[in-house]
Formats: sequence, structure tokens, C-alpha cells
Amino acid sequence: MRRTTTVILAELANTGVFIPEVGIGTWEYHAGPQPLRKGLEAGALFVDTAESYGSEPAVGEAIRDLRERVFIATKVSPQNFRSADLRRSVEASLKRLGTDFVDLLQLHEPNPTIPIDDTMGAVAELITAGKVKFAGVSNFSVAQLQAAQKALGGFPIVSNQVRYNLIDRTIETELLPYCRANHVTVIAYCPLARGLSRIRDCDPTGAIDELSRETGKSPAQIVINWCVCQSGVVAIPKGNSAEHILDNCGASDWRLNQEQLALLNDRVQHRRRNRFDQLVRQWVPGPLQSLAVQTLNVLPRGLRRRFR
Ligand SMILES: NC(=O)c1ccc[n+]([C@@H]2O[C@H](COP(=O)([O-])OP(=O)(O)OC[C@H]3O[C@@H](n4cnc5c(N)ncnc54)[C@H](OP(=O)(O)O)[C@@H]3O)[C@@H](O)[C@H]2O)c1
Repeated sequence: MRRTTTVILAELANTGVFIPEVGIGTWEYHAGPQPLRKGLEAGALFVDTAESYGSEPAVGEAIRDLRERVFIATKVSPQNFRSADLRRSVEASLKRLGTDFVDLLQLHEPNPTIPIDDTMGAVAELITAGKVKFAGVSNFSVAQLQAAQKALGGFPIVSNQVRYNLIDRTIETELLPYCRANHVTVIAYCPLARGLSRIRDCDPTGAIDELSRETGKSPAQIVINWCVCQSGVVAIPKGNSAEHILDNCGASDWRLNQEQLALLNDRVQHRRRNRFDQLVRQWVPGPLQSLAVQTLNVLPRGLRRRFR
């Protein structure tokens, strides 16, 4: 590991390229370039965006005059996986980001209706042309990852961006061991489970607050640090203010010790979703999922915990 001012760097797959272990997520990010810029200046020189997020222009503003130092990861949406559409999508992302290359291009989620050879052929062309440095995927299972790698040929798929946090450990069964064994970095999304209150619901004995008092770190820092303590994992929390983004940067440059990790593992309730559950998550439309989350939030804590 190497260090910047406050954020530890981790190697991206086995590329020899090092990226901050805590980056900045931008889904539902609405605060403009300034808070992002503060995070970059604090060392989180890794921003995750997507053509579907609407945040690429703010990211572009925030990285201006810092471009060479920032690792930019964006995503192409599944409806644009045909080669011609993918090329057009990437050109549009580059324009919105105000750059002539992205560091990581990720397929946002699998699209079984479009042949993966067609998609990966276009990704390989973009790498050869220097518009994309590395190829990644997101929400891919082991089998989907293997098929994508086969289709991409000589270039490696360096990352799989998936949901991973203290209370949702689904990937630990199969995907995480596979990624570790095959040098694919796991980029953990929703490392705060989309809001600390959801994690607290699963922490009936207050383990996180206990560790927060013991270490002097904030609850968000404890939760994100748990993520990056898992080998082969980097995390991209999202904050809509400089205060949250800077707090999240402080999740790096230190480590929970083995005893503290064991305490979290023992006392915070977590789940590993089965295949049926994962399919429902993948195919239920986003707005319906958001509605379900809002409904859950008004239930009493004990009930909320059962459904999450
Ligand atoms: N590839 C995919 O399919 C996929 C799916 C989901 C997410 N992602 C990526 O992963 C990123 C992170 O996931 P996410 O945005 O869903 O959820 P998240 O990072 O787990 O949680 C975000 C929530 O936590 C709050 N928060 C942030 N920092 C905090 C702090 N220091 N203290 C207390 N609360 C804090 C935020 O509040 P405020 O907003 O008020 O600051 C927001 O409500 C996304 O932005 C996106 O880049 C990718």
C-alpha cells in the first residue's frame, strides 16, 4: 500500500495502478462540484459516476485542472450495450466529463438480451483507442464475469462494482472469493447501506457507537473502514455535502484491529441474499424499490430489520 495525504491507495486488480481505497460515489448526488472538489483535495482522488446518474457534469467541473491525478470511473447503461450505442455513450460521457479518456469504464449491469461479444468488442476498441484505460463490470455474477472476460480477450476486467456493506454480505459466499482469486478488485457500492439508520437497525446492542467512542472515529468511518479492511475491496460512499464527503475520507488511513472487526462481525446482524432474492433485486424497477424502502422506513425497528 502507498499513501497520499489522508487516503490509503490500493492496487487496482494486478495492474500496478493504485487507487484510493475510499472514493466518492455520485448516485443521487445533487450538491454540485464544490463538495466533490473538497473530497478530491482531501485525497479521495477516485470518483464513481455513470451516464445514468446525471452527475458527470459536476464531476467534470470538480476535476478540472486535476484530471491527471483523478481516477474517473463511469458506467454505460445496459440499454446501450450494442457496440454502436456503447461507442456513442462513451463519447457523450467524455464530453460531459470534459476529458478525453476515462480510467474505468464499467458495464452498469448485465444485459442478457445483447450478445456480450458485441459489447466487449466495442470496449476493447475504446481501450485500444486510448479513450478507456481499464474495463470493469458492475452487478455481474461469477458466470457473467467469466463470460465478459472471455469476450474481452487480451484485456483484463479489473473490477466488479457490487453492493457490499456490514449488513449485506451476499458477495462473501461466491463472488468475493472468486474476485480475490482472479485479481478482480471489488468496488463496494452502498458501503453505508444507503444510510446509517439502516445499519443501526441491525445493530441492536450499539456496537458501532461503542467502537466510535473507543476509536474517536465517526460511525460512518467505522462502517466504511470495515469494508476496506476486507482484502481486495475498495469503497465508494456517497455524501451530498462537504461535511459527509470529508467524514468519509477519514474512513481511510487507519485500521480497525482484529478484535474490533470481530466485535462488528459478531454483533451487527447481516444477511447473505439467496439467488431468488438477488433476482428480485435485479429485476424489480428502481422506482418500485425506492417506494418499498420508503414504506420500510415507517415501520417499527424490529419489523424493519426483518425485511432488510
Ligand atoms: N453500480 C450500481 O449499480 C450502484 C448502485 C448503487 C450505488 N452505486 C454507487 O455507489 C455509491 C454509494 O452508494 P449509495 O449512494 O447508494 O449509498 P451509501 O454511500 O451507502 O449511502 C449514502 C447515504 O449515506 C449518507 N451519508 C453519507 N456520508 C455520511 C456520513 N459521513 N455520515 C452520515 N451519513 C452519511 C448519505 O447522506 P447525504 O446524501 O445526505 O450526504 C446518504 O443518505 C453511489 O453513489 C454510486 O456511485 C452503484
